[in-house]
Amino acid sequence: MSNRRTFAIISHPDAGKTTLTEKLLLQGGAIHLAGQVKARGQARRARSDWMKIEQQRGISVTSSVMTFEKDGITFNLLDTPGHEDFSEDTYRTLTAVDSAIMVIDAAKGIEPQTRKLFEVCRLRSVPIITFVNKVDREGRPVFETLDEVADALALDVVPMSWPVGMGGQFQGVLDLATNKVSRPEGDSREFLGKVDEAPELPADIAEEIELAQVGYPEFDIEAYRHGDLTPVYFGSALKNFGVAELIDAIARFAPPPRPQPSEQGTIMPENKEVTGFIFKVQANMDPMHRDRIAFMRLVSGTFKRGMKLTPSGLGKPIAVHSPILFFAQDREIADSAEPGDIIGIPNHGTLRVGDTLSEANKVRFTGLPNFAPEILRRVALKDPTKTKQLRKALDDLSEEGVIQVFYPEIGAQWIVGVVGQLQLEVLISRLEAEYKVEAMLEPAPFDTARWLKGSDAALKGFVDFNKSNLAKDRDGDPVFLARSAWDVNYQQERNPELTFSATKER
Ligand code: G4P
Repeated sequence: MSNRRTFAIISHPDAGKTTLTEKLLLQGGAIHLAGQVKARGQARRARSDWMKIEQQRGISVTSSVMTFEKDGITFNLLDTPGHEDFSEDTYRTLTAVDSAIMVIDAAKGIEPQTRKLFEVCRLRSVPIITFVNKVDREGRPVFETLDEVADALALDVVPMSWPVGMGGQFQGVLDLATNKVSRPEGDSREFLGKVDEAPELPADIAEEIELAQVGYPEFDIEAYRHGDLTPVYFGSALKNFGVAELIDAIARFAPPPRPQPSEQGTIMPENKEVTGFIFKVQANMDPMHRDRIAFMRLVSGTFKRGMKLTPSGLGKPIAVHSPILFFAQDREIADSAEPGDIIGIPNHGTLRVGDTLSEANKVRFTGLPNFAPEILRRVALKDPTKTKQLRKALDDLSEEGVIQVFYPEIGAQWIVGVVGQLQLEVLISRLEAEYKVEAMLEPAPFDTARWLKGSDAALKGFVDFNKSNLAKDRDGDPVFLARSAWDVNYQQERNPELTFSATKER
């Protein structure tokens, strides 16, 4: 079986994703100093002008890939932007993982961002391991947290460990399978390896655990892999509790690289032919050069450096001479990669999100959708002679997945759509820095967009009747711009022969 585990961490800001990432990498021997994850982020940010926003707001807009090894397993951790306001990048990154860790703050429970990201995971049946963080602090009662996860996310929950007190009362974490307690040590009250094999538990905790053992189902790996059940671990990323258990859980339970649906049927990871898909494109550091890194998830075959692969969007093969594997410390040139691995392919804009790459150019992967924008804005130019540059820029940036662009059937003002406010700031800043276009964003009279599908006759009938609400996207496909969700439902009911889709697959 494959020794790859490709996963992401989903959480609300401040729940502890960065701290946990650091600790996972430390355990995997990928970095040697705590604090490196943030430091590395800063070094990267300093390299690029257009990433000014990141500096100003102290956040990372772009996500990256971190690879580490432990006990013969290679872990690929795909980072998702850790900001309240998220973008399509985040969604798309989740299309390239096989499982996720959901980090929640023991005192706060499920927060809005966790829920949103969880929904994306559910859409794709991505299995979730839950990590309840910060048990070294005062938190909510354990049962309350477990029940909240079960109720809010409609999942079966199975506690795999149990905190022995929290906050001032914190005495360690009990592993329910082995009945051992990891104990805090020294002034820092960290976990430094001290394990109590035959623990005496405080009476109230012993009682809780007895209740839990009858109240929750047994762990069932199939139900977990199906996305119906989540094992729940308690710990403290800061104090290193529960981190080794988490790595162990991913190694033992998380699914190896999955088969990927394609127009030609399901592609198995064991297939000999090298295939993969692009889930993210990132502009490179120098805004003057249109260099980009396309992130490809390998689906099948063993990739070797220098191999020729054909991108579905291009039709002719490209030689991949300098692929990049993203190790936590630095980038390394990849000589080979296996299914589940991510490789970065430098290119000049030829590779687009959603592209399939393959040796024989006969496969087209499906399931890499665009997501309906939640915010729509009109783009207005300060200098009206710059229309051509603006069109070029909007096309480029939509290819890269920074925004979606819609060209209305009526009127000359173009509309951009995003799922998070931050994408708009990135847009304005990049238009100025890279295309010398000064633009303003104005409210659009629309609230959301739906891709239209149906027979030519049905489409034509609808289009003729609703011109003022219609637009074409970057690929020329018809889009219904709706004033409200109600509007979408109303039109859907009146036009049952059409589908109004919230996602679009290229
Ligand atoms: P994020 O990436 O999810 O946004 O969270 P991050 O890891 O940055 O953690 C947010 C804050 O919570 C940090 O404190 C961090 O030290 C703290 N934290 C993370 N895990 C734990 C834990 O297990 N226990 C406790 N007690 N605290 C934890 P900060 O003061 O906001 O940031 P910093 O400047 O000290 O890094």
